Amino acid sequence: MSGKRMLRFIFLAAAVIVMLGVLSGTLPAQDISTYSGEQLLKERCSKCHDLKRVEKEYGEYDRGQWEKIVDRMIKRGAQLNAGERAAVIEHLAVQQAIK
Ligand code: HEC
Repeated sequence: MSGKRMLRFIFLAAAVIVMLGVLSGTLPAQDISTYSGEQLLKERCSKCHDLKRVEKEYGEYDRGQWEKIVDRMIKRGAQLNAGERAAVIEHLAVQQAIK
């Protein structure tokens, strides 16, 4: 390789490595939630019904029951990946009843 071609090659290789780094950094990992359960609830659970619909059930259900409800909502169309689902369930399971 001539000196010029070598430089070009190094430049391109570096560009590809930087691009891969950027891409892998910005693509969300499927099972890790970057949002808190509370944020997710406010954002994703208020699309079809009021959050009051959820809040009035605080303290009524245990973790297993919330799991079933969240899964039902996912089937209906709630947007939650595996990690986000777990974060929302965790958040719901520790809420006290609102009197
Ligand atoms: C795609 C629309 C949609 C989204 C998003 C959604 N829901 Fe629902 N939700 C419904 C519908 C439709 C009903 C009424 C039918 C039913 O109970 O399955 C309902 C009812 C409920 C109820 C009352 C029923 C019960 O058994 O107590 C709760 C609690 C609830 N949703 C919680 C949630 C939570 C928590 C989220 C976020 C993870 C969520 N919903 C997101 C559509 C949605």
